[in-house]
Amino acid sequence: MSTIRPAIVEDAQGIGWVSVTAWRETYAGIMPADYLAALSIEQRVAVFRDRIANLPDRQAIFVAYSQDERVVGFGVSGPARETELGTDGEIFAINIVEAEKRRGLGIRLMAAMANALSQHGFARVGLWVIDENAPARRFYERLGGREATRKDQAFGIKNLVELGYV
Ligand SMILES: CC(C)(COP(=O)(O)OP(=O)(O)OC[C@H]1O[C@@H](n2cnc3c(N)ncnc32)[C@H](O)[C@@H]1OP(=O)(O)O)[C@@H](O)C(=O)NCCC(=O)NCCS
Repeated sequence: MSTIRPAIVEDAQGIGWVSVTAWRETYAGIMPADYLAALSIEQRVAVFRDRIANLPDRQAIFVAYSQDERVVGFGVSGPARETELGTDGEIFAINIVEAEKRRGLGIRLMAAMANALSQHGFARVGLWVIDENAPARRFYERLGGREATRKDQAFGIKNLVELGYV
């Protein structure tokens, strides 16, 4: 049985790997190839190690483990970074590696984050999703998410549209 639990510092290695792997799998053909190639697992591991050790106020990081006890997904939530979403809470990231998709881990990670957000006193949650990321949009729509706003965001030399879902 796969498991979801709050991340500890020892999970940073797995989370960094999932983060870069899922981006390369998801955004191939959407983000510039050299931008994706330049993503550094080491750098993301360092960022997550620090973030887990010094978890910012009202943020939460959850990790998903496969049956054979490898980190295969993670999610990060907390106070909304900007007012544009119109929500007080935000899902900053949710990433699951290709081989473990469509097994309900996404729903379980979202439930864990929703729970943490609600315990921290947030009333509404939003997130940003790249408009070309159709599978993720279907996932959020299945959970009741609706597009509320949009903005341009640069990834390397390419500008992409990010949709704000609430
Ligand atoms: C998007 C993501 C978090 C979904 O998690 P998941 O574990 O694959 O999804 P779940 O198994 O929990 O799916 C729950 C429901 O969402 C919907 N859904 C999920 N993926 C879908 C897809 N590719 N196409 C259509 N609907 C989808 C379905 O209704 C699904 O239920 P079903 O499998 O019984 O039909 C995951 O696929 C992922 O990490 N993708 C890569 C990274 C990414 O795009 N992250 C989001 C960035 S904003």
